[in-house]
Amino acid sequence: MISIREKAKLKDKKILLRLDLNVPLENGKIIDTTRIDKILPTLKFLIKQNSKIIILSHVGRPKGKFVNELTLNPICEDLSKKLSQNVKLITKNINNINNKDLFKNNDEKIIMLENIRFYLEEENNDPEFAKHLASLADIYVNEAFSCSHRSHASIHQISNFLPSYSGLQLDLEVSALKKITSEIKRPITCIIGGSKISTKINVIKNLICKFDNIVIVGGMANNVIKYMGYNIGKSLQEENSDLIIKEIFSLSKKENCKLVYPEDIVVGKDLNGTPQIKELNEISSDEIILDIGPKTINIINNIIDESNTIFWNGPAGYFENPSFANGSIKIAENIIKNNKSNKIYSVAGGGDTVSLLNSLNAVDNFNFVSTAGGAFLEYLEGKELPGIKALN
Ligand code: 3PG
Repeated sequence: MISIREKAKLKDKKILLRLDLNVPLENGKIIDTTRIDKILPTLKFLIKQNSKIIILSHVGRPKGKFVNELTLNPICEDLSKKLSQNVKLITKNINNINNKDLFKNNDEKIIMLENIRFYLEEENNDPEFAKHLASLADIYVNEAFSCSHRSHASIHQISNFLPSYSGLQLDLEVSALKKITSEIKRPITCIIGGSKISTKINVIKNLICKFDNIVIVGGMANNVIKYMGYNIGKSLQEENSDLIIKEIFSLSKKENCKLVYPEDIVVGKDLNGTPQIKELNEISSDEIILDIGPKTINIINNIIDESNTIFWNGPAGYFENPSFANGSIKIAENIIKNNKSNKIYSVAGGGDTVSLLNSLNAVDNFNFVSTAGGAFLEYLEGKELPGIKALN
């Protein structure tokens, strides 16, 4: 993997820069700008080299369709402000954009193409699409570590058509994770939550043999609660997950890895509903599990106290509503307490977890905070990520 800081000849070159600007949005407003802030040094570095920059990114999962709410427009505006420089969003169909259409105006230095996941070809890792993207530039830069676990056209296939380099933030994330995983101290606890169940459920299986405790919370835990035979009402869930959960339980026994999941929960009738603490056998059909309960918080905090390393990926509940943020806050507070007294080494990852830590002003109290969620977990599995492999 060669970094843009090393051998790349960037001067006056057109750079296709893949970023992960998948930031949380609410009614077109950005809730947390961490992923934007982190890549500013890279943009400034390229601007200094007088490069012309074509930004590629996705937001959300539009599945190959144009979705108005998932336009990159608010992100483009935020970036322009932060750079004090115009960043032009090109909404024209990417397949109809020609190299000669870009940077016609000499003052134009940075452009952004509309959400790359509006095109089915992206997730299909389509070679023709990648070839077309490549025709727009001279050099490709992957500055999206958090997307590097995806075999998508702008992450993987693209490197077949252009000289490809890693970006500054990607370098930082990979070298930090390499160091952490090689110098790791047991007992190791991995706390996995959040709502991207389909992405993470398979990963758990492969983490069991590496860690001493796996704590499953958030949307991730709903499937386990259901598997245990409880009604989970209208809670978020992944269909057909029983087999994999069965495997997770039997593997954890075999590998002597303690599996922890909620023993009590907090429900609401909807995301803005009144919070109610319940036992697992008390959930009714019109309720949604939105946080972990006090008994569970206690169990998790005892495990944190006994650990030397903590990996945390995904909140314990719907923390965006303060009524359901207690579990995530209590976990964060206990990690911070242990960290301050140098009792643990703590790493957090994922867009939502970072956003939660930002809202608590707690980012600096962790040893390392990765912008990546799924990619971070797959890296912990020991997998070679397709986006990194492509750079190698
Ligand atoms: C993330 O938020 O982890 C990345 O942007 C990847 O998103 P995805 O899980 O939708 O591929």
